Amino acid sequence: MRADLREQADKVIARCRHLAQFTEVPGQIQRTFLSPAMRDCMQAVQGWMEAAGMSVVTDAAGNLRGRYAAAHSPSPCLIIGSHLDTVPNSGAFDGMLGVMLGLALVEALQGEKLPVAIELIGFSEEEGVRYALPFIGSRAVAGSFDSAFLAAKDRDGITLESALVSYGLDPAKIAECGLADNAAGFLEFHIEQGALLESEEMSLGVVQSIAGQTRAEITFTGRASHAGATPMLLRRDAVAGAAEWISEVERLALQTNGLVATVGDLRTHPGAGNVVAGQLRASLDVRHGEDAVRQVAVDSLLAAASSIAERRGLTEMSRMQMNQPAVAMDARLCALATESIRRIGIEPLSMVSGAGHDAMILAERVPSTMIFLRSPGGITHHPDESVRPQDVENALAAGLEFLRHFAGAPPVTKEQRRPHA
Ligand code: GLV
Ligand code: MN
Ligand code: MN
Repeated sequence: MRADLREQADKVIARCRHLAQFTEVPGQIQRTFLSPAMRDCMQAVQGWMEAAGMSVVTDAAGNLRGRYAAAHSPSPCLIIGSHLDTVPNSGAFDGMLGVMLGLALVEALQGEKLPVAIELIGFSEEEGVRYALPFIGSRAVAGSFDSAFLAAKDRDGITLESALVSYGLDPAKIAECGLADNAAGFLEFHIEQGALLESEEMSLGVVQSIAGQTRAEITFTGRASHAGATPMLLRRDAVAGAAEWISEVERLALQTNGLVATVGDLRTHPGAGNVVAGQLRASLDVRHGEDAVRQVAVDSLLAAASSIAERRGLTEMSRMQMNQPAVAMDARLCALATESIRRIGIEPLSMVSGAGHDAMILAERVPSTMIFLRSPGGITHHPDESVRPQDVENALAAGLEFLRHFAGAPPVTKEQRRPHA
């Protein structure tokens, strides 16, 4: 393996840690869509991209896009990327690692131009924290951004449309963010966020498919009343109803092979210790590799919410936020990723991703694949998230193989498929 790749790997890790300083919450890592911390983070990444010889723009959805030209034009283009936003109290690598690895690959070319162009994208929004709408950035790039999203409001009542305008972006131009017709493939590096690679003592994996996910908000409404003066049998307690339902969410997931279901966010109203809560809003996140199993589970959990509510004299309302089917990665690019890893002398694990990724959105538009790096302890969405330098070095070496072989025989692009006039 090339000696300088270890140095590059250390630099990739150091850069991810450097980006951790751009945060909305001192002492923690939190960067949400279109926040000042996101702007600062993107500015730092833009500087590195430009120094690597890329021309860089921020598109109308806030994505950072660096283009590294091909030896000749016109030419197909390989897209590499991941996201730069984070969950609250995040680690330093979920998303950022994929962008920094893409950058290191371009840097490793040292100005050499390939028969394919490279576009490196730092997606502006993947986690869905600010608007409970994941993948805003990649949807814009895949051409599947729905203009109805513009009316979504964050916790402060700021619409997505006005947040874009305040950031200096033009919402009317989101339709122009789509990939160019020469886009030939998408490659995303990401930490595994599970412990399978570690338990198999393997460094890298190739993702064959990404589990589908449903996200919804369930509101239980009862009647606020005095915690001391309201007898137990006369209460219409939204929190107690929701608690019963949350136990049902866990029970169903435990009993259904491969199903994961999470209630990760609860908001009570009025939210005081001496008031029986009159209202509770709960998030629901349900995932499975098979869409039919996920759909049956979601239907059953929504039915459970209404019957629990009815029995307790509450009302219940559910609002669907996202229904993202499971997505297969491109067989040819997965084979190329597998071959690239084998060429550096290691065997990759063939994997299904339980976490969502920008690649599941890009796959609607362009052949896509993902390479996972081992997640120490499976720890993620947590400040202790980490990555091993050796695995980053392996990812870089495999990425260079992938680049060179992709450049030798890229998939046919939309541009090439277009009939001649
Ligand atoms: C992204 O981290 C997800 O929720 O899968
Ligand atoms: Mn994440
Ligand atoms: Mn991620």
